[in-house]
Amino acid sequence: MDVFQVRGGIPLEGEVRVCGAKNAALPILAATTMVRGVTRIDDVPDLEDVRVMLEILRRLGAKAEFVSAGLVEVDATDISSTNVPDELMQKMRSSIFLMGPLLARFGEVRVSKPGGCVIGQRPIDYHLRGMRELGASIEERHGYIRCFAHRLVGTELTLDFPSVGATENLMMAAVLADGETVIENAAREPEIVDLARFLQSCGAVVTGAGEHRMVIHGVHHLSGASHRVIPDRIVAGTLLLAAAVTRGSVVLRNVEPLHLMAVLGKMRESGLHLRVLRDIIACEMSDEFSAVDIRTEPFPGFPTDLQAPFMSLSALAKGTSVFRENVFEARYKHVDELVRMGADISVDLRTAVVRGVSKMSGATVCATDLRGGAALVVAALAAEGLTELRGLQHIDRGYEFLDRQLSMLGADVIRTQVSR
Ligand code: EPZ
Repeated sequence: MDVFQVRGGIPLEGEVRVCGAKNAALPILAATTMVRGVTRIDDVPDLEDVRVMLEILRRLGAKAEFVSAGLVEVDATDISSTNVPDELMQKMRSSIFLMGPLLARFGEVRVSKPGGCVIGQRPIDYHLRGMRELGASIEERHGYIRCFAHRLVGTELTLDFPSVGATENLMMAAVLADGETVIENAAREPEIVDLARFLQSCGAVVTGAGEHRMVIHGVHHLSGASHRVIPDRIVAGTLLLAAAVTRGSVVLRNVEPLHLMAVLGKMRESGLHLRVLRDIIACEMSDEFSAVDIRTEPFPGFPTDLQAPFMSLSALAKGTSVFRENVFEARYKHVDELVRMGADISVDLRTAVVRGVSKMSGATVCATDLRGGAALVVAALAAEGLTELRGLQHIDRGYEFLDRQLSMLGADVIRTQVSR
């Protein structure tokens, strides 16, 4: 079993480049299945979830591979199957993104219930309802979902909650539907805008991405294009928090500050010194940081994906912070592990009260989801002594070579194998 061994207490120093965003790259890769011709996607992070998506594309009959560092080429002209393999479907939530594109292009798709981080129930009812409203028939049997439609027909869709995945899936389905589709209460995350930009470069007609109301005019086909994925705002936030909690001084390149406004606002409110230039953010050494309250919200609010990493900072802040998780109902699994390291946190349903302590200590802890795992890395970098972090398969799904990146900033992190 792979583990990180982290000896904490070293201030991070230096400069790193942030990779492309996983949560933008995955739906874009799914969208390539609608394209006849070659698409080139640049700045794709080399992550487990991305490798699974490429494997799914190949199993469907597409050519899909990294042709150089960060550059993926897909040719989905000759896709021969619309059955997404069950065992790959279980490996990640994003496999559901294939539903909209395959249904739109081929008039049928078979998927099973997707896997992914266990941070709440994560139903897919908005996706299914939207596909039905676009004219698809859906059969659910023995865990499989089969959707078919002679043609999808544009319509007015209203989401009960601005779901990122449902907005993306329905936008992709609508791109090849007949006529106009409106998505009301659409999610506004930067990853939605990036997907829309990719689709536009392939010939789709999408307006209003990044706003509550999106309008898509269906076209007959999409053709090959090139696209560069936006920087990963969650990786950037995690690295800034790691710098802050170790009282270090780190410069991040390839970031989009506008994607991080809520996070930077909370970091400043807690007393951290930040410098923001066009695509650079520097976190400068701050002796002390104080408690701030965090409420997660859909974009442009504070992102649920940085709730856990921010909690590791709050665990060592001066004063008491109150966290409110409004997006996922079970996203506090990291709390028990932080408490094991000496944090003082209590949880009541969606609220966590974090009473700052003056130090945390290394311990053996286990990641049970991606961002919860990142929170444990942040805490371990600040804790006294050695932390052994298990459950790296979760972290590997979303952070590209995290140990190497932190080592380049001076952290004492090694990836090694231990027996169970
Ligand atoms: C995306 O998940 C991200 N994943 C998540 O990142 C992120 O935490 C989340 O958006 C919120 O920002 C990817 O982009 C691949 P949602 P998604 O649909 O699309 C409920 C990470 O760590 N809901 O916006 O699954 C749902 O249960 C991951 O990188 C329904 O009820 O999130 C949740 O409470 C984890 N029915 C809320 O909406 C549905 O059909 C928001 O979920 C769909 C969602």
